[in-house]
Amino acid sequence: MHVHLDVADPLSRPAPLLVVAVPRGMRPEAGFLQRLDQAFSGAVSRVLDAGDLAGKAGGDVVLYGSGDGPERVALVSVGEVGAYDAEQVRRFVARGVRIAERLHVDAVSCWLDGFGAVADAELGQAAAEGAALAAWRFTELKKPPGDAPQVAVGEARFFSEGDTKAVEKGVAKGAVIAAAENFARTLQARPGNLATPSHLAAEAERVAAENGLAVTVFDEARLAKEGMNAILAVSQGSEEEARLIVLEHRGGAKGDAPLVLVGKGVTFDAGGISIKPAASMDEMKFDMSAGAAVIAAMQAVAQLGVKANVVGIVPSSENLPSGTALKPGDVIRTLAGKTVEVVNTDAEGRLLLADALAWGARMKPAAMVDCATLTGSVIIGLGHHAAAVLGTDDALVEELRAAGSRSGERCWPLPLWDEYREQLDSETADFMNVGGRPAGTITAACFLREFVGDVPWAHLDVAGTAWGDGKVPYQRKGGYGFPTRLLVEWVLSRVG
Ligand code: BES
Ligand code: MN
Ligand code: ZN
Repeated sequence: MHVHLDVADPLSRPAPLLVVAVPRGMRPEAGFLQRLDQAFSGAVSRVLDAGDLAGKAGGDVVLYGSGDGPERVALVSVGEVGAYDAEQVRRFVARGVRIAERLHVDAVSCWLDGFGAVADAELGQAAAEGAALAAWRFTELKKPPGDAPQVAVGEARFFSEGDTKAVEKGVAKGAVIAAAENFARTLQARPGNLATPSHLAAEAERVAAENGLAVTVFDEARLAKEGMNAILAVSQGSEEEARLIVLEHRGGAKGDAPLVLVGKGVTFDAGGISIKPAASMDEMKFDMSAGAAVIAAMQAVAQLGVKANVVGIVPSSENLPSGTALKPGDVIRTLAGKTVEVVNTDAEGRLLLADALAWGARMKPAAMVDCATLTGSVIIGLGHHAAAVLGTDDALVEELRAAGSRSGERCWPLPLWDEYREQLDSETADFMNVGGRPAGTITAACFLREFVGDVPWAHLDVAGTAWGDGKVPYQRKGGYGFPTRLLVEWVLSRVG
């Protein structure tokens, strides 16, 4: 998808489709809407008078032009005036892409003004993200339909009365971030037989080579040598070898404490011996979503030239039942030296993260953030509209909450009080890997906290937000790339 700003008047620029936001209650009595109404002989007024855009945000009406300007103009209702933020811009532009798809045109022009409170740079960024995210599709494994080939929307052209330089800068940044998130989605979409731990590692190596990142991949021999027995324990039931992927962006001064991102990379989670029910088990190919987001975020961090040292760590494994698999009751000695009684082999993500977080903590980070499709419990708590954020450092938790809100990939805090930790007490080991049904997201985070030492740390549980039916206009059914945008936004917030 090619995204760019155009400084011409959209009403005299030939285009197959121009989309224009119509806030609720707005009349074409001033500004661009008035000029548009005049160019279309009062058609905009007539649409509004008829009440055809009066429903909730998301409705649209298409007008057909006659002159040199746009062939079609889509009026899109976008909700309340004054309540706008960057997420509304993302969704508006994405709706424009969906309308273009519906009309089988391969380019969309968007009039971006009217989103009052959104600053120019954020406007351009959100527009580019909305367009490029909406246009993405996963085509690798399907032949194109024989008749009536689907039109892909390959270009988004933006028009704005804002500061051209600022909007353009935003567009360029948004394009990088959206391309990264789309890459995460592609990794998510690849099924477990293709996207194995070694495949993720190979993709990370490619991203590193193309973007100037340093990369190290630990195979099982190296994992054993380092003492990463928790990662190996999850992997021991599978024919596919585990990997630990470490990507490094050296954008800060040598010796500057890094920001460390850690992402769960379980390429298929059958549950192991504590096997999951068959229904929807196929969705567990998405259990590497957070790992994909970390690799993707590292790509964006490199392309944006972030002036900080940033490290991405992805422990990757399958979780399968077999004669060599980890068994309920087994006790493993983790990299940190703490022992874990594995009561349920389906709580495997926290085992992988235990060793990955302990490895990250050795880098003495300024802050460490992990993300994982860790618990079904977070879906009970927050549904599909926000990830949970929990951590040892309230300021860090607040940074992530704020970055989530700006990026449109929201997260919301849960407490991490010591009382919850008691649910992990074990008769035979330092603690168990599960703490029963109550507060499953919190006890999982309590488990992770055992491995971060005194590093300022926070955890994002993205089990409810990493994939789904595609309810938001810039998503489709399947992987969302979540939390790529959130991670990049947080890293950028740390460098000012
Ligand atoms: N990958 C799953 C979590 C998950 C479940 C993500 C549903 C998305 C949708 C994780 O490895 C898991 O199985 N968690 C268990 C933990 C339990 C055994 C304590 C869960 O949430 O049921
Ligand atoms: Mn599991
Ligand atoms: Zn899992």
